[in-house]
Order: sequence, then structure tokens, then C-alpha cells
Amino acid sequence: NTGALWGGRFAGGPADALAALSKSTHFDWRLARYDIAGSKAHARVLHKAGLLDDAELQGMLEALTKLDEDVASGAYLPAESDEDVHGSLERGLIERAGAQLGGKLRAGRSRNDQVATLGRMFLRDHARIIARGVLATVDALVEQAKAHHGVAMPGRTHLQHAQPVLLSHHLLAHAWALLRDVQRLQDWDKRAGVSPYGSGALAGSSLGLDPEAVAADLGFFSAVHNSIDGTASRDVFAEFAWVCSMIGVDLSRISEEVIFWATKEFSFVTLDDSYSTGSSIMPQKKNPDVAELARGKAGRLIGNLTGLLATLKGLPLAYNRDLQEDKEPVFDAADTLELLLPAVSGMIATLTFNTERMESLAPQGFALATDIAEWLVRQGVPFREAHELSGAAVKQAESRGVELWDLTDEEYAAISEHLTPEVRTVLSTEGSLNSRNSQGGTAPAAVERQLAALEGELAGV
Ligand code: ARG
Repeated sequence: NTGALWGGRFAGGPADALAALSKSTHFDWRLARYDIAGSKAHARVLHKAGLLDDAELQGMLEALTKLDEDVASGAYLPAESDEDVHGSLERGLIERAGAQLGGKLRAGRSRNDQVATLGRMFLRDHARIIARGVLATVDALVEQAKAHHGVAMPGRTHLQHAQPVLLSHHLLAHAWALLRDVQRLQDWDKRAGVSPYGSGALAGSSLGLDPEAVAADLGFFSAVHNSIDGTASRDVFAEFAWVCSMIGVDLSRISEEVIFWATKEFSFVTLDDSYSTGSSIMPQKKNPDVAELARGKAGRLIGNLTGLLATLKGLPLAYNRDLQEDKEPVFDAADTLELLLPAVSGMIATLTFNTERMESLAPQGFALATDIAEWLVRQGVPFREAHELSGAAVKQAESRGVELWDLTDEEYAAISEHLTPEVRTVLSTEGSLNSRNSQGGTAPAAVERQLAALEGELAGV
């Protein structure tokens, strides 16, 4: 079997059960073209080290190019007998270059350094795709924020009315979190951009190969400084899975809000028909399935991360076959986000906001009580006392079933001499919003400065 990479010291072949367990071509074939790029880079350093002559290098590169074309077109596929992508591609190379030349390529490398390198290449490409998807979601939030700038809504803590905020302020809060996720992917790339190629099985190579040349050839910044670390570590994979989980969690939090904003009780948003689903029995239903799938897939992404960490925990150095389990969780994380992000960004971009309802609810539920307390502070009342007095006003309003602005001047005066009719200047949504003009605050002018700062950072990613 030309696809087997080992066998010399064995009297018989592997049991069928072992072969079936061992096999990884059904998921690692996605690394095939990275493997061939690695093989080309490796052939060049073998040539530089004098282990391939000019004609051999040329023959090798031509055969690899042909193999790459056949992989890309689907003409070359792993055979049932191939254990993994690396063995299968050696078989394909030998079919094209002959056993004499094809058999020379494996010198000075191991599947251990190969697979660690190819995984990083794959993830670096997908991190860029994911970052673009996250940025499209940020754009959708920014566009909605701009389109609704000036609209007030109830700001909540503990899901209870807290203080009025601008809808744009709320939407941009989600945008900042997602922008940090993009920055995390970019920062991760500094660590992912280091090539393990040349580490060999674990100890490096005796053949005078140049790992830095391979690294540069494959688009890495540099090669690892420790061959054991290069073949045994998977923290770069786990960090990728963590950033993907964080993105999933951030999308899930947006989605949870969309889900309850779309309920009859809230009626804050209407989902576009193109991003809602119906029911097979209830004809009236319009369901927020995109948001629910986002919330659900966050769980799946967290599962990928925790599964990978559990695989790594307790592994002695250097390579162990457990590490074959590193790929499916990170591949699935990338696939999941690449599927999810266009749907979530589309859902956000097409939301219709019921701005009248949001505005009318913004000051309700005594959401201006803090404004009364802060107004009293500006009149010289210690905050501790101001808090008590404003609380007493809330109690009075609640007992009568009215809002703070419905209390009479007499009722305010009865609570405290400090509560003069001038307190009414802060008893409006507009007054409350405008007063919060500090950096990061919800005043329209502060949110405009925030938007400029966000757009500045977006221009830099
Ligand atoms: N397929 C393995 C992996 O994905 C690489 C092969 C290493 N095998 C070995 N016996 N050292 O990790």
C-alpha cells in the first residue's frame, strides 16, 4: 500500500478496527492544499541543503503542482486505504513523480510538524474570513445606530427600566464588543503566524534544512524557537476556539435582545420577512429563528473550546495521537461562524425599530429617579440624602399608580423643601439624556463623539 507512511518494522498490517479508528481523511482532507504548499516549501529547502539537485527540485515542484490541480478539481481524492491527508498526498506525489523522486520528499519532516503548521495556515485564512463577517455585523449595527440617532429607549439593568438611553448608544455597545473580537483575531495572528515546520517529529532535523525559509515561503512571520513546543502545543488552536466562542457569545447576547424585542409585549422591533420563519401549524407565526440559532450555536462554539481544552489537559510533551482530535473542533468553529455571521448581520441590517414605542417607554418605570437625585446634588444636597428623597418620590408615585412627572408641586414640597417646582426641568427624557454628556455617556452629542471614535478604530482594523 503506497499510501502507508510506515510498516517496515511490522510483520502484519493493522487490524481493521485500528485502521478505522486511526483514519482522519474525512476531516483533514481540508488541509490538502496547505499540505502541498508546505511540500513545495520543503522541497526548496531540501534543494538548498543539497539533498535535491536542480532537476529533482523541478520535477518535484511540477508533480506537486499537478497534484494540487487534481486536488483542487476533485480528480484526486483520498483512497479508502489512506490513513490521513499526509499519507494520501505522498501516494499522489509518487503516482505523479515516481517512487524514486517522490520518496525523497519526506526527509527531514514529520507529520507532527506538518500538521501543526497546516492547521495554523488553515486557521489564519479562516480568521480573516471570520473577521470580515464580524465587521459586516459591526457595520449593520453602526448603520442602524446612525439611522436612529436621537431615538430614546429604556435603558435596563437587571432587565428592569433603569435610565433612558439612546437606541444608537445601545446598538453601539454591541458594536464595540464585536470590534474587540476582530482585534482579538488580529492579535491572535501574531502567535498563529509562527511556523512549526522544521521541528520534525519533536527534536528538529539533522539535514541542514532552513525552517525560517519554509516559514517565509508559507506566509509566516518566523519559525518556532523550540521544536518540542512546535509539535506539541495547541494553545494557538485553543485561543482561536476561545475567540470564536467569544464571538458566539457576543452574537448570542444581541440575539437574545432581538428575540424579546420582537415579542408582542415588547414590540420594539419587527423582523424582516427574509430573516424570519413560519410555523408548520400556527399560520400567524413569525419566528426569530436566526437569533435563536445564533444563541444555540454559541453553546456549540463553547463546546468546541471546552472539548479541545479537555483533550489537551494532561498531555505529556511532545506529540501524542490525542492531538489528531484538535482539528474537528476548530474546523467546526470556523464553519459555524462563517454560516452564522452573514445571517446575523442580515437580520440586524433589516430590523425595523418601533421608535415611537421605544421613546414613549423610555422614561417610564421611574427611570428619571436618578435625574431627581442628581438635580438635588447640584442644589447642594448630599447624595445620600438626595437618593432618599428621590426614593420617597418614587414611593409616592408608585402608591398612586402614576409616574414621577405626575406628582404635584405640593406632593414634592411635602417630601422635602429642596424639591421645588424647578425639579421638573429634569423630568423629561430629553433633559435626562442631554445631561449625560460625559465621555461614553448617552447624550446625543456624546454618542456622536463615540461614533467618530468607533469609526476611527474601524478604519484601523
Ligand atoms: N494525523 C495526525 C494528526 O492529525 C498526524 C499524524 C501523526 N501521527 C503519528 N503517528 N505521529 O495529528
